[in-house]
Amino acid sequence: MIYQIPWIYTPVRSVLAVWHQLTKTEMPELSKGSVMMRDRRRVEETIRAMRRAGAGRLQVISDFDMTLSRFAHNGRRVPTTHNILDNRLLIDEECTIKMKELLNTYYPIEIDASRSAKEKLPHMVEWWTKVHELLIEQRIRKDMLARAVKESRTMLRDGYKAFFDGLYESRVPLLIFSAGVGDVLEEVIRQNHVFHANVHVISNYMDFDHTGVLRAFKGQLIHTFNKREGAVTQAAALSQLQGRPNVLLLGDSLGDLTMADGVSDPRHVLTVGFLNDQVEERKESYVNAFDVVLVRDETMDVPNAILRNVISSGDRK
Ligand code: TMP
Ligand code: MG
Repeated sequence: MIYQIPWIYTPVRSVLAVWHQLTKTEMPELSKGSVMMRDRRRVEETIRAMRRAGAGRLQVISDFDMTLSRFAHNGRRVPTTHNILDNRLLIDEECTIKMKELLNTYYPIEIDASRSAKEKLPHMVEWWTKVHELLIEQRIRKDMLARAVKESRTMLRDGYKAFFDGLYESRVPLLIFSAGVGDVLEEVIRQNHVFHANVHVISNYMDFDHTGVLRAFKGQLIHTFNKREGAVTQAAALSQLQGRPNVLLLGDSLGDLTMADGVSDPRHVLTVGFLNDQVEERKESYVNAFDVVLVRDETMDVPNAILRNVISSGDRK
């Protein structure tokens, strides 16, 4: 037994200790009650592989509404970027009623566990198109957006500051890929003081005329189930994301899983899904689709723990 030979015992123990330090994934957050995983070992192996590669090889791709922003607070729904526009400064009462009706019609379809993404797709195009037409009719003014955000009940998830600041300090790019309204989204993160230089946004941006009145939405419409198209065209073209084959992906919809489809030669991809609503009906499909599922978890605790672990290798290329 080599352990009984004193002169060899110390070096062997040191080597084993170093090996343990290099390979362990000390993450008590993964044992939180809100966490579900199909295969915890694979999750830990992926985190270890990402850690070995270092921060210089990592990018984070995240959805915005109900992923970086909270789903609910004190039992009340937190508004999405579209719903932040529901403010008399921007839209009239009739428009509010119509947008609510559309939400009540189409949101249940968006989260319906019994329909495929393909079946949902035409309904999503219809929803977004109708809402954008309504907003354009309202002649929304650009200079009122900041006030509408300030007056709204929008809230980012607990721990958002550590998330954004940590990525910025480690020079890890964060791509926010949202089917919401880009102008509103930017204002939310600006007002929360986390719109750092490493943040890139792909979203539906408003097109204002020379007097600052909304006249259209720019470019290809993004809804929950066509993010793949934006990923392979827009995200793939972002030079800041090149040479970073390891991805932490965060989303709250199964459609968000395609947000990393534009990454060339992906190496290690870890997907985290927030399951906010219709939990029992959707649990199984989420656990099958995402590596980590966070059930009714309004915090960034788990993504932050993963990032701390991956980035702590000290590699800041
Ligand atoms: P996301 O891609 O950032 O999550 O944004 C899309 C979400 O926005 C999606 O889950 C549905 C939601 N939404 C509204 O809340 N109101 C609307 O009027 C529309 C069109 C979408
Ligand atoms: Mg979302």
